[in-house]
Amino acid sequence: MKKLKVAIIGCGRLGQQYATAYSNYPDTELIAITEHNSERLKAVGNRFGTNNLYSNIESMLKDIVPDIAAVVTPTKWMKESVIKCSNAGVKGISTDKPMAAKLSDADEMIEVCKANGTIFAGGNLAVAHNHVQETARWIKEGKFGQIIGGVVNCMADDLTGGGVQWISALRLLMDSEIDQIIAWGKPKSYVFNSSSVMHSNGIFTMVNGIQVPFFQDNIIDVYKEKYRKDKSTLNRTKMGLDIWSNDSLIRWFWEDIDIYKGFDNLGRRKPYIPKYKDWQWKEFNYLTGSTRSLINAVRTGSKLAISGHDLRQAIEVAIGIKLSAQMGNVPIKLPLNDRSQSLMPAQARWVGGDLSGNPQTISEASANWKGYYQ
Ligand SMILES: NC(=O)c1ccc[n+]([C@@H]2O[C@H](COP(=O)([O-])OP(=O)(O)OC[C@H]3O[C@@H](n4cnc5c(N)ncnc54)[C@H](O)[C@@H]3O)[C@@H](O)[C@H]2O)c1
Repeated sequence: MKKLKVAIIGCGRLGQQYATAYSNYPDTELIAITEHNSERLKAVGNRFGTNNLYSNIESMLKDIVPDIAAVVTPTKWMKESVIKCSNAGVKGISTDKPMAAKLSDADEMIEVCKANGTIFAGGNLAVAHNHVQETARWIKEGKFGQIIGGVVNCMADDLTGGGVQWISALRLLMDSEIDQIIAWGKPKSYVFNSSSVMHSNGIFTMVNGIQVPFFQDNIIDVYKEKYRKDKSTLNRTKMGLDIWSNDSLIRWFWEDIDIYKGFDNLGRRKPYIPKYKDWQWKEFNYLTGSTRSLINAVRTGSKLAISGHDLRQAIEVAIGIKLSAQMGNVPIKLPLNDRSQSLMPAQARWVGGDLSGNPQTISEASANWKGYYQ
């Protein structure tokens, strides 16, 4: 099979994980890297054995139009990179979270890709994992009965911060968009500033009519990174996205899914051990679900496991939570009419490590950076 040609745009911490994945798959080859930081560019070029190195997207696209472009710049530069790649004829583009601060910027990326026929994927998200996708298919097929309820129990800024993981999981597992948001926020100073950090509780009303309460104020001394290293450190009875039918419960928490089906003779839920299909790609890293789904979409036109639309919905929901809280918990209908609404991501996401005071060292970039979620 002809290998798909891949370019990485922005080869910092996360970009290097994309580079690792695409240079390890047997059916893709990493042919170019565009990276603003010249020292890092040289280091990752050596590390991945890539000679086509560019300091900006315009000069890369003059020489090379790859089949796939993974746009992993900080959020501030995602729009220009996505639009330039799409206009140049790149077949499949992925970006990462959050894709924009302003809704109209997210809209523009999606519209340009649509007009050019570009497949626009959403990046490194837990919902793209094979077993999450398979569980969603089972729910849709009715394997666990009709879904009648749901609840989100997450940490301080999980919904309004990055946000994307939880919102994408809710929309996928419920197989429904969010129609309306009512939210209460705290503390006041956070509710009324421009940033995405806020504690809030509230209710989503899904398009399918189900009301999903959300609790975004768990102050848990054990943060996610620690949990990932040692899963026993988190109180799993409290955290997660639960959805249920009359006799089943599905609990999502990042890459973990617990399923219960039926009851024992004391009326307690019985754990259900799912048999997921063996997946050819599980030996590769965390973002393999999303990258494989983009590769398939480019080759066969199949549906993406996570799309640009999914990333936009997450921003829109986060903005809706903030607006509802600011306006005194009034119901906010989606989609929002005012597309100039925005929510500023944390600086590390917006401008990246170099400009937010946490640059990745060159020795780390040159070595085998294991990084996020591996
Ligand atoms: N989905 C996830 O789980 C996840 C995890 C981590 C980061 N992210 C997102 O990925 C993005 C990048 O994060 P990171 O941690 O890799 O940041 P980083 O600062 O480590 O790397 C970003 C790199 O992009 C380069 N760059 C900046 N502007 C550029 C441009 N216009 N063209 C080419 N290169 C450019 C920088 O020089 C830097 O090397 C952020 O938006 C972040 O929110 C998502």
